[in-house]
Amino acid sequence: MQLRDLPGPRGLPLIGVLHRVRFDRLHLRLEEWAAHYGPLFQIRMGPHRIAVVSDSASIQRILVQRPQGFRRTRRLESVADEMKLRGVFAAEGDDWRRQRRIVVAALNRQKLADFFPKLALITGRLQRRWEGAAERDEPVDLCRDLMRFTVDVTMQLAFGVDANTLETPGPVIQRHLDKVFPVLHRRTNAPFTYWRWFRLPSDRALDRALEAIEREVGGMVRAARERMAADPDREPADFLEAILAAVADEESGFSDAEIFANAGTLLLAGEDTTANSIAWTMHYFMQYPDLFERARAEADALLAPAAAIEDPEQANALPFLDAFCNESMRLKPVAPIHVVEPVADTEILGCPVPRGTPIIMLLRHAATREEHFAGGDRFDPERWLAPPESRPSPHDRRVFLPFGGGPRLCPGRALALLEIRTVLAMLLRNFDLEPAGPAGEIEEHLAFTMLPAGLMVRFRRRGAG
Ligand code: HEM
Repeated sequence: MQLRDLPGPRGLPLIGVLHRVRFDRLHLRLEEWAAHYGPLFQIRMGPHRIAVVSDSASIQRILVQRPQGFRRTRRLESVADEMKLRGVFAAEGDDWRRQRRIVVAALNRQKLADFFPKLALITGRLQRRWEGAAERDEPVDLCRDLMRFTVDVTMQLAFGVDANTLETPGPVIQRHLDKVFPVLHRRTNAPFTYWRWFRLPSDRALDRALEAIEREVGGMVRAARERMAADPDREPADFLEAILAAVADEESGFSDAEIFANAGTLLLAGEDTTANSIAWTMHYFMQYPDLFERARAEADALLAPAAAIEDPEQANALPFLDAFCNESMRLKPVAPIHVVEPVADTEILGCPVPRGTPIIMLLRHAATREEHFAGGDRFDPERWLAPPESRPSPHDRRVFLPFGGGPRLCPGRALALLEIRTVLAMLLRNFDLEPAGPAGEIEEHLAFTMLPAGLMVRFRRRGAG
């Protein structure tokens, strides 16, 4: 059997199934087709034939066999390269190994423990921002507020800069960062590389945004160089200093371009992902008020009378909140699909897949299948708390991969979990929450990461009625 013989939706000549997908809902369409065509099917988009897989064993094998067996797509690499963002996320082979080592070291547990007081300070600013919104009875665009928080955190931890966009009125760096993911998403999926021939207004807006980000990052690099020149013997204090130290070491083979690419990568990788994950969890808090109260009782018991987490160890002592977050990330992972290609000819479920074929992995679909999670579509945090023997089987944790897996597992996972728990504990201790947007289901919108489109909320100080 060849790839083209696999089942799959019928397409039109030349365009394939392009007329049947909207890129901001691509994952939903693919999941629908997976329910119909099974764990491995094929689609054609323009000139490309693509394998779509939701079989969990195949997904795990692919994730683990990187970078030697599978890689991110060449399209992603070239698009990231054009944007000067070929950092650790987009790099392959030895380039990736070198960059990955520094990124992992910059985000390790000891660094996070040392960083916690600053994270607590930034969380306090978010709390004051929400108190202000509550006093003014003002609806809050949740993802936007949370992105101010996540960018402040990344800038402080990775670059040693107190950006404080949370307390800065008006436009901030986020308005430039906002432009990157939607275009990255569009360009990595576009059947034709049209922007190399003509530029739409959104492509020109992206160019301006990238220039602004480059200026901003350039300023941070200069500041870090000055700090290091002033005290050359001390250990690098953050990611930027570590990467600058590596650049100074001629053996390392690091280039100036890689500094920008990785600084930009960290800013982007830590912004939407964490903000959207927190936003989805808050969405579920509003949907399940009883569970919100249960999470609140747990936070009260651990933290009162403090208004928030004061010691990073406390973030690991909120099992119900953790279960709630797991369930939220299982049903609303910010990366519901991953795209890779095989480095050499391979096979999936017995079907030959030639080298370079795009393979879309449906991670969320696998994590909602009955054979992996009993009642897979149901939001049920309890499933994460039940002792294994009393679980309504199955409960297959190996399929729960919100941070990816294998050698390219998200290096920001521990930071992200710390941010998520710290913000949510602060929310539980201080605020009541209600939807402020139009009634109805919040839609999933895919723009590289998956976000709750138009999620508006109203904060009330706790107990203020
Ligand atoms: C809830 C928040 C987050 C989620 C759900 C998330 C998810 C992911 C996923 C699914 C991947 C791809 C992994 C793979 O290919 O197997 C990834 C990669 C990555 N993430 Fe995260 N991430 C989050 C937060 C962060 C943060 C806070 C940072 C850093 C500040 C970060 C930095 C990165 C980097 C650098 C990569 C590329 C790793 C590589 O290719 O080797 N992420 N993340």
